[in-house]
Amino acid sequence: MRNFTFHNPTKIVFGKGTLAELKNLIPEDRRILMMTGGGSIRKNGVHDQVMEALKGRTVIEFSGIDPNPEYEKCMDAMRLAKKEKADFLLSVGGGSVLDAAKFTAAALKFKGGDPWDILEKGAAVAEAPPVGCVLTLPATGSESNGNAVISRRATGQKLAFSSIHVFPQFSILDPATTVTLSERQTANGIVDAFVHVMEQYMTYDVNAPLQDRQAEAVLLTLIEEAPKIKEDPLNYETRANLMWCATQALNTMIGCGVPQDWTTHIIGHEITALHGLDHARTLAIVLPAVFRHQRDQKGKKLVQYARRVWGIEHRDDERTLEAGIRKTEEFFRSVGLPTRLKDYHIPLESCLPAAKAIASRNPKIGEHGDIGRKEIEAILKLAE
Ligand code: NZQ
Ligand code: ZN
Repeated sequence: MRNFTFHNPTKIVFGKGTLAELKNLIPEDRRILMMTGGGSIRKNGVHDQVMEALKGRTVIEFSGIDPNPEYEKCMDAMRLAKKEKADFLLSVGGGSVLDAAKFTAAALKFKGGDPWDILEKGAAVAEAPPVGCVLTLPATGSESNGNAVISRRATGQKLAFSSIHVFPQFSILDPATTVTLSERQTANGIVDAFVHVMEQYMTYDVNAPLQDRQAEAVLLTLIEEAPKIKEDPLNYETRANLMWCATQALNTMIGCGVPQDWTTHIIGHEITALHGLDHARTLAIVLPAVFRHQRDQKGKKLVQYARRVWGIEHRDDERTLEAGIRKTEEFFRSVGLPTRLKDYHIPLESCLPAAKAIASRNPKIGEHGDIGRKEIEAILKLAE
């Protein structure tokens, strides 16, 4: 196992009725900038619950954050926060709202010039006001990590940054708030969480059996719970299990001391930037292609995955491995996510510029640093 530092400072408050805890989690003298999305929280009662919990507090609302949050919107939020002297950022919504809140927080205290440099040039974030979270969509794990992904539609970019200073101070996870999710958003969340596990698991063995088993536990639970939620979308227990899976998938725990990949996400973000496709849908397309392209490098783990997660037992490793990849594709399709570019009528040629864009930022990606422009083009061809 490799050396690692594990430090996850986010307090998780989980369960039914926990939004009322908000009043105890934010100090009374704070001026709160509450960031929200396109209106789902007004329809499902979450907005009312938050306002009830924060009665008598100073709350400045900034709404209208779209999926794949936009840089310019974050800049508007930053200006409002400065004008109103806000000193606490509260995100109420899904991963997009939370990522926008994290970036706005980082930008607020950024002294290095243009905050875009945090995303494009990896400029360091030295401090940020506290961020709190009420999560309404289990998917990204953003509720318990220091990552955020921000888009700039004018330049066709979608870039990530990471900082210990933007881990949420707390995240309230009430699974009851997620029953209003559409089948599509629920399915997206399941696949996003599944692929987060894969990015940290499907690499090569470094004798970290606990992390492997933890990763497999999350995968198996997602596979078990997915058909249940399709059958019974209002089931609180199933919603709770999915929500906790998504947090565990990317709260930095299963990635301790092991190599990580993230090729699927890096390529997926480019496809979203080019075509506006939902984040998880890009992953369902790219992941199987990455596995097929990297079957030699990932071979042993692919066989372990096929055996332990899908119970496949061919004598021939090659057959076992391919059957595991097929099962993964079937799983994505069973929840409603197609696994090829052509399923979305996206021509391969329109995605190839992604390879150049990625390679110009980061010439070699993947756990071995052996995926460059040529390899990304080959992966995209496999995903056609
Ligand atoms: O905007 P509103 O009206 O709230 O509607 C949202 C949005 O349209 C809706 N929604 C959220 N909660 C709901 C609900 N509808 C009904 N009932 C509820 N309870 O769902 C739609 C999608 O929301 P969004 O926040 O965009 O989804 P998600 O949480 O999947 O976030 C996706 C973003 O996170 C990034 C993605 O790239 C994408 O930009 N990621 C962030 C990561 C991180 N910070 O660690 C890692 C991920 O890999 C990912 O890249
Ligand atoms: Zn993701």
